[in-house]
Amino acid sequence: MKILEQRIKKDGRVLGKDVLKVDSFLNHQVDPELMQAMGEEFATIFSDEKIDKIVTVESSGIAPAVFAGLALHVPVVFARKNKSLTLPENVWTADVYSFTKQTTNHIMIDHRFLSAAENILIIDDFLANGQAVEGLLKIANDANANVVGVVIEKTFQKGRQILDERGVRVESLARIKGFENDEVIFL
Ligand code: G4P
Repeated sequence: MKILEQRIKKDGRVLGKDVLKVDSFLNHQVDPELMQAMGEEFATIFSDEKIDKIVTVESSGIAPAVFAGLALHVPVVFARKNKSLTLPENVWTADVYSFTKQTTNHIMIDHRFLSAAENILIIDDFLANGQAVEGLLKIANDANANVVGVVIEKTFQKGRQILDERGVRVESLARIKGFENDEVIFL
């Protein structure tokens, strides 16, 4: 998606050798017009799929997921990261290990908001090591969750391979091959 790549080039900041900061337009400050364009792009890409609901994880997946939900006219559910060890009853849960933060989050969705009869589109901000999407796939295992849309894919990390091996359709709005001299190189 051209306008997203241009925005990443203009406002993204490369940290170290594998992290891209996008906090000025995606995951801290949010650009609603860009989110809306991304939501419409997801709707076009997945127009051939029957989608009943969008599922994401708090917090950075919420903005792109809501705009995709708006464009597809379907509800959006975000998995909560549970901070306490005592879980409420009747929830689907998964443990998601974050390589970047080196912590494990317990994520959960209330049974009332996800059922086996629903076709799910998973949306997230980054596909890096694939842990967040894997956690959502585990939660949505009983539902028909087999399509995934991510805003930014880092193709040099193993998320895509894990999802390909599971036969999951993955679509990304921007695919990053790597970073060179603090410049983003797109695929
Ligand atoms: P995953 O996203 O594929 O599961 O891989 P990983 O475990 O590496 O990612 C952990 C967290 O770091 C995720 O956020 C993910 O979105 C974020 N992340 C991964 N790569 C980048 C990057 O290059 N830049 C930025 N800004 N974030 C990255 P999270 O733990 O779910 O936290 P939240 O931000 O959604 O609250």
